[in-house]
Parts: sequence; C-alpha cells; structure tokens
Amino acid sequence: MSEHDPQSTPSRQPATAPDLHGQIALVTGASRGLGRHIAVALARAGARVAVNYAHSEADAAQTVQLIEQEGGQAQAFRADVTDEQSVGALVDAIDSALGPVDVLVNNATGPQPMLAIEESRWSDFADQLDFFVKAPLLLVQAVLPGMKARRAGSIVNIGSEVVQIGNARFSSYVTAKSAMIGMTRSWANELGPHGIRVNLLAPGFIPVERHAGVDPEGYRVKVPLQRMGEPSDIADAAVFLASPQSRFVTGQCLSVNGGYTTGI
Ligand SMILES: NC(=O)c1ccc[n+]([C@@H]2O[C@H](COP(=O)([O-])OP(=O)(O)OC[C@H]3O[C@@H](n4cnc5c(N)ncnc54)[C@H](OP(=O)(O)O)[C@@H]3O)[C@@H](O)[C@H]2O)c1
Repeated sequence: MSEHDPQSTPSRQPATAPDLHGQIALVTGASRGLGRHIAVALARAGARVAVNYAHSEADAAQTVQLIEQEGGQAQAFRADVTDEQSVGALVDAIDSALGPVDVLVNNATGPQPMLAIEESRWSDFADQLDFFVKAPLLLVQAVLPGMKARRAGSIVNIGSEVVQIGNARFSSYVTAKSAMIGMTRSWANELGPHGIRVNLLAPGFIPVERHAGVDPEGYRVKVPLQRMGEPSDIADAAVFLASPQSRFVTGQCLSVNGGYTTGI
C-alpha cells in the first residue's frame, strides 16, 4: 500500500500509544513547572529520565519520586545548562548512570523580566539568549556524537507563543524564543540525514508554580477552546514529538495553546 495510491486503504493495524521504552530522555529544568510534567509524561511512555535542575535539589528529587511512584525510572542531575563545562559534565554523568541520551528536551528557563526598551541592557538580552540559544547549542553538541552514531534522536525545543504575539516590554524573551525557531529549522535540515529530528513546541500561557497570584481570566476568555492550558497538555505534546508517533515530523513548530494564536 502506498500513500500515493488512490486505491490505498487505511491500515487495519490498531493505533499504538507513544512508546519510549529503552530510550533515555534528558529534560532540562525538570525540578518544577512544565519540565516536571514533561519528565513524568516521558517516563510514563517508558523512557528513563534524566531530571536536570540547577538550584532546587529537593524539588528535583520530588520529580524523581513522582516518576518512581508510578514504576518509572529517573535520576536527578544538577547542572547549569548555560555553562559549557557544566553541560559536558551533565551529559557524561547521564551517560554513565543511565546511558546515552536519545531524547533531549530543552526546557530550562531563568527569570523572564518584563522591561521597556529604555530599561533594557544588552545583558538582559544575553541572559535570555543564554537559556534559549546557548544552552540548547551546548546540549545538542554534547549529545550529537551519540545520536549520530545511533542514527536516531529527537530534540524538542520549548519555545513560546510570544513569538507570534510580540508582547510589549518583553523583547529580550521574545527575541530569544524567536531565535529558537530558526535554530530548530536549521538543525532539522542539518540533522535529518542523520536520522535525528528537531522540533519546537510552543506553549501558550500555562499557569505553573511561578504564576501563583496571577489572574489568568483575561487570557482565558480569548482562548478558542475556552479554558486555560494545563501542564499535561504540554507534556502530552512533548511525548508526541519525542516518540516515534512523530517519526516523519521535523523542523516544525507546534503551538499548544488552545488556538490562542490562531489568526495572528
Ligand atoms: N509556563 C508558561 O506559561 C510558559 C509559556 C510559554 C513557554 N514556556 C516555556 O516553557 C519552559 C518551562 O517554563 P516554566 O514556566 O515551567 O518554568 P519554571 O517553572 O520557572 O521552571 C524553570 C526550570 O528551569 C530550571 N533552571 C533555572 N535555571 C537553570 C539553569 N541555569 N540550568 C538548568 N536548569 C535551570 C529551574 O530549576 P532550579 O529551580 O533548580 O534552578 C526549573 O526547573 C521555558 O522554556 C518557558 O520559556 C512556559
């Protein structure tokens, strides 16, 4: 049966769930927020998960505990993903403890200050570029030899819908998240021939711990699906992009925001 054959009929194979058994996944910034949910969801799909964090050891341990309680396997690894030496040591440690990384989720973020142009310094932009360009570059460079040798791998960059919205007083973050899109597309072209896929997942506003006290109602009323997104919405999409379910998808940006940016 060929997709190009007008006579072709759909396969009668039953639908399969995303299966990451035998795979090692590294989720940066997985001690809380979206990263924790992504880590748990990848583990539910069968991956052994490296839970990266920089400061919050107890929170990272809790992510590991959540995974282990469900019968999954995970280990916490402290590393500053914006630091070259730290990233090298992180990937070496994961390699020794769990095995080579098959799935890399570039999720970690530092503070995201809202600043007018006049208030912004170059260092404010550099801080955001460190998280969303430098860190993914260092991490990809570190895992690439193994992925190339195995001719397989999935890289998921966590972007943001702010690129379509262009939020005022947020240009450092918007600029860095925009750069992630170009980087994703270029890497997809470069790494496709090696069997490695690179995609970007762009969440909408998904309240997590750091949004405590923020009223989401003004945002919610503009969401076509008429509810706020939940971390599990992002985690399920990350599992899709990580897993063979998306085996013919690369270089793409997947908005997971209830349609908030539809029409922008
Ligand atoms: N939540 C949203 O509404 C939303 C919307 C669009 C896009 N996003 C994107 O989704 C991703 C996750 O956002 P979030 O809201 O879940 O963030 P968050 O709750 O603030 O979590 C950030 C994570 O990054 C870790 N981290 C901070 N500095 C680090 C460093 N130098 N090295 C390694 N890890 C570090 C933190 O761990 P420690 O505490 O241990 O440092 C924490 O686990 C980000 O890329 C963000 O831009 C989020």
